[in-house]
Amino acid sequence: MAVSHGGRLNQAVREWGIPPQQWLDLSTGINPLPWPVPDIPARVWQRLPEDDDGLPDLARHWAGAPAHAGCLPVAGTQAGIQALPRLRAPGRIGVPYPAYAEHAQWWRAAGHDVIPFSDLPSRVAIESLDALVWINPNNPTGEWVSRERLVACHEQLVGQGGWLVVDEAFIDAEPEQSLVPETGRAGLIVYRSMGKFFGLAGLRGGMVFGPHELCDQLDAALGPWSVSHPTRYLMQQALADASWQQAAAHRLRNDSQWLGAMLREAGLEPQGSTLLFAYCPCDNPVRIARSLAEQAVLVRVFETPPALRFGLPGSQTEWQHLERALHYLNGRIATSR
Ligand SMILES: Cc1ncc(COP(=O)(O)O)c(C=O)c1O
Repeated sequence: MAVSHGGRLNQAVREWGIPPQQWLDLSTGINPLPWPVPDIPARVWQRLPEDDDGLPDLARHWAGAPAHAGCLPVAGTQAGIQALPRLRAPGRIGVPYPAYAEHAQWWRAAGHDVIPFSDLPSRVAIESLDALVWINPNNPTGEWVSRERLVACHEQLVGQGGWLVVDEAFIDAEPEQSLVPETGRAGLIVYRSMGKFFGLAGLRGGMVFGPHELCDQLDAALGPWSVSHPTRYLMQQALADASWQQAAAHRLRNDSQWLGAMLREAGLEPQGSTLLFAYCPCDNPVRIARSLAEQAVLVRVFETPPALRFGLPGSQTEWQHLERALHYLNGRIATSR
């Protein structure tokens, strides 16, 4: 069965009969003020992408990977998530839960037994695993695990011939806990995405950092030209744009605090958060999401455990839209009491 995701605006338009331009889509954790995409030279469209265009070195430098680490650009983290499980013989794989469900889905599809963990598994639990996938910070719960704890898991796993796979799709604005600087060692694989912090989900760009041989195997599994030339070109420009990255991280810090304050004020206490979304456990997420949808605000609903996830508004008008909708929601909740 296909895993459901946020960002399904067309479906909301059909369901609620509200035209697309009237919606405030907060159902994803994507930066609403993306890196400004420049014009793409005609030659980039015309010529096939080449692996030795300098992108892996630039990405290694940007993410703080050692020179000996492998770095494979991929068509979104998702491409790596789908292909990696086929590079291991079927085994027992620990995955976080609740979490971005594509990991569990693709390990299972490749014949592995998938064991869900709500916290980082203990040493004893890790003894029976062949690989552990962790998402740091986690989506949707926003939970963080320190790099020291993940390094300890990796050391244990690699001693057993296992892998630690860390999905850092949401780490870019706060990279201090990233495990990329540790990559290059056996059994450690880290995913990074261009979709979230850079706000370029439609670009379909990401990177896999890991041992060279494993990156080569993944490259072979994905086949030639799996990342388009325009994507590789734009990834290079965006990764090199340090001043935009600094300004964006600063703005996201302010905006995420502001979002948290607004949600708290509306009685939706965020539990875990990243700079790109707030996770609010609540008793009746479906009812709240419907009330917000009546106000053309689309949020992500989780039924087990019950919670809502709010992405960030971008423009002033969008912030006001959210404020109005939360006000309306409070009125609805007060009258239904
Ligand atoms: C935790 C996590 N990892 C990976 C992805 C996939 O991202 P992409 O393929 O756009 O890099 C997502 C998308 O929502 C995600 O939430």
